[in-house]
Amino acid sequence: MERKRVAVLISGRGSNMTSLIAAAKDPNYPAEIAIVISNRADAAGLASAKAAGIATAVVDHAGKHREVFEQALQHVLDAHRAEIVCLAGFMRLLTPPFVNHWQGRMINIHPALLPAFKGLHTHEHALTAGVKIHGATVHFVVAEMDSGPIIAQGAVPVLESDTAETLAARVLTVEHQIYPLALKLVAEGRVNIVDGCCHIADAMPAGANLLVPAIDC
Ligand code: GRF
Repeated sequence: MERKRVAVLISGRGSNMTSLIAAAKDPNYPAEIAIVISNRADAAGLASAKAAGIATAVVDHAGKHREVFEQALQHVLDAHRAEIVCLAGFMRLLTPPFVNHWQGRMINIHPALLPAFKGLHTHEHALTAGVKIHGATVHFVVAEMDSGPIIAQGAVPVLESDTAETLAARVLTVEHQIYPLALKLVAEGRVNIVDGCCHIADAMPAGANLLVPAIDC
């Protein structure tokens, strides 16, 4: 099996990146993490990646036009022969030309059940809206923010006692499950986009890209 070469882009803590690195340790996993790239030199995730023996790079966005930043990013991606890009807490908007170049090959994790609660502060918005179910989504990246075809979702209950912090922590547990699952499906070439929706091919039990953990998670 030819494993797909994956670049993970981070800006901070990197816990989703760590979940991808952990999944890719299995030689049967269809992707390997070829490079972790941060736009911030102080991202804590860089140390975790290095500790796991993964190559890292910093492409600093500060003081650069978006196009110049993205050219530098593309240079690193090419140097490491990246085939799939995973955005994992990467806090930069990417321009349409860059997004189009990686169309169908770049995925993102968003801490809400899209299309609800796009953008930042999703857990606060979920509490304000009074939703009873919240969660996370892995989707293909398109030019419009938090809007691409949905690959996998994980749901969690919203409890009466929740704060944004407790809810975020519960959502993070499903993020760490659905991101490796979604990357596996994409790396295996089992995700087909038809009319803006993802269809998962072959041997996939119905709903297996939807995680609904028990209430005490
Ligand atoms: C996660 O909640 C992710 O969904 C969002 O940013 C956060 C990044 O966390 N896009 P981490 O850096 O992966 O720990």
